[in-house]
Amino acid sequence: MSRRRTTLLALTGLTATALAAAPPSAAAVEPVPEKQPLAIGTGGAVAAVDPDATRVGLDVLAAGGNAADAAVAAAAALGVTEPYSAGIGGGGFFVYYEAATGEVSAIDGRETAPLAMGAGAFLDEAGDALPFAEAVQSGLSVGTPGTPLTWARALEEFGTLSLAEALEGGIRLADEGFVVDETFRQQTADNEEKFRLFQPTAELFLPDGALPEVGSVFRNPDLAGTYEVLAGKGVEAIYTGELAEEIVETVQDPPEAAGAAEVRPGLLEPVDLARYDAPMREPTRIDYRGLEIYGMAPPSSGGSTVGEALNILERFPLSSMADVPVLHSYLEASALAFADRNAYVGDPAYSQVPLAQLLSDEFAAERACAVDPVAALDKPTAAGSPDGEYGPCPAEDGPTAGEGAEGLSTTHLTVGDAAGNIASYTLTIEATGGSGITVPGRGFILNNELTDFTFKAADPTRPEPNLPAPGKRPRSSMSPTIVLDDGNPVLALGSPGGSTIITTVLQTLVNRIDRNLDLAEAIAAPRASQRNSPTPDAEPAFIELYGGDLGALGHEFVPVAELGAATGVEYLPGGLLLAAAEPERRGGGSAGVVQDVTGDVGPDDPQLAPELGQN
Ligand code: GLY
Repeated sequence: MSRRRTTLLALTGLTATALAAAPPSAAAVEPVPEKQPLAIGTGGAVAAVDPDATRVGLDVLAAGGNAADAAVAAAAALGVTEPYSAGIGGGGFFVYYEAATGEVSAIDGRETAPLAMGAGAFLDEAGDALPFAEAVQSGLSVGTPGTPLTWARALEEFGTLSLAEALEGGIRLADEGFVVDETFRQQTADNEEKFRLFQPTAELFLPDGALPEVGSVFRNPDLAGTYEVLAGKGVEAIYTGELAEEIVETVQDPPEAAGAAEVRPGLLEPVDLARYDAPMREPTRIDYRGLEIYGMAPPSSGGSTVGEALNILERFPLSSMADVPVLHSYLEASALAFADRNAYVGDPAYSQVPLAQLLSDEFAAERACAVDPVAALDKPTAAGSPDGEYGPCPAEDGPTAGEGAEGLSTTHLTVGDAAGNIASYTLTIEATGGSGITVPGRGFILNNELTDFTFKAADPTRPEPNLPAPGKRPRSSMSPTIVLDDGNPVLALGSPGGSTIITTVLQTLVNRIDRNLDLAEAIAAPRASQRNSPTPDAEPAFIELYGGDLGALGHEFVPVAELGAATGVEYLPGGLLLAAAEPERRGGGSAGVVQDVTGDVGPDDPQLAPELGQN
């Protein structure tokens, strides 16, 4: 497992004041320390993709902040160290369990389409869908960012810190810099062509015209300055103030580099930012084997799709089944839930999403009829009819809708505090590197979230819930999840990975609840992702272990290098907290607790995997 990067502060042990007075230099760089994918202890836990973000979150918890405070602070740190996956130019979904009230709430920080955007926004003059890459690297793909207001709302609703206080760690990190690791360099290399299209992006992320060197210190004083503006003036600066004007200008007239081809301009106007809201949404909830599973409601399809698949799986005694039939059931339930997601889920303000029916046990029972224990369904399979009228095993009569393209970027962080508050927060700028457009002098990349809309309806005779429309939120797959047992916190998790987020979260829940792996093992286990495709994705290790047996049932896997990079936190019996991050994928993640007793417990201790639910 490789550690990605860390701050000079962590490396040298210098105080913030000392570092502020002494600008970082390459000479100060030390070998990059190992990341810790599993941590057990007390006082609060943080799991994120990046050690700096985890440390910033833990510092907040150690200083008496709660899970909401720590999640916002860690997210601001991710905006610095993971600028290609997340930041104030993007959006996300924040699901929160508040111990004092026992309630789970959710903030919808999804980006919105400009009021000027119509259904045909991503079609060319001939009525064909624009090439995906051309749409991504353009002003057209940029929606109004939701992340700044999500942070402000999360602190206002649940936190104890001011925005200025929560941004302190991120400001310091942007100012002082972090040490570039192989993953950051590689992600920059993967985006080099896109970044070279835009002058401020090339200037910032390709210093002196080259890829940042592994071991060099990457500073982003522009972003530090932008965070200072938010700290001083509040997020209004982004929605109605000086930053709003700059965002609109940048989107309408993208700052192409000299000699680069012109990209499509975007449609954002000041009114689109001024009218933005990050509303509280009722989270989805299903009961699974006696546990309460909460997720993100539309416009994300995460909660409905994970929930429907689990409801289907509840019909099968997975805990007493062997691995291959468990995985076969998982793949089939996922395909069925994806068929329904593709056909019925979009922004609920624009189409009737039959959410209650999609999450009903009766609908799940009807859908479960399609699962043949000895043969995989033909894919793509048709959607069911979540109409409230269910009988035994009807022929499917819904549409067969395509999935569309989605970037594999995004990031997830999970925080649990000592009082039992939990933040499960997934945020993104969509593709790795987003639209590629940096707001000049501001240090952050704008999202390409609007490419999550369906560009063109697969079947024009059927309603398509995810076409662009004025002010609409594109359908998401983000699946920040919280699990309670009789109202008490049990665990929380999430993942990056576009539409594979849903299958990563689903498979990890099955691994933890039904296969009784501990959370770290559940996250590390090899994955497959069946999203209603005749050729589902699977990691090489999964194919090696199960490809033969599952192939005999009709599953034809296509190898992909890796799927997702989950993080999670679990409340163990006896008052211990377990934080788990991805050990390998995407360079590995970082788990931490305030008071660490990992060494005393040991990774194979049976107390790490108490039986969950009524299996
Ligand atoms: N852009 C990734 C998602 O919303 O699922």
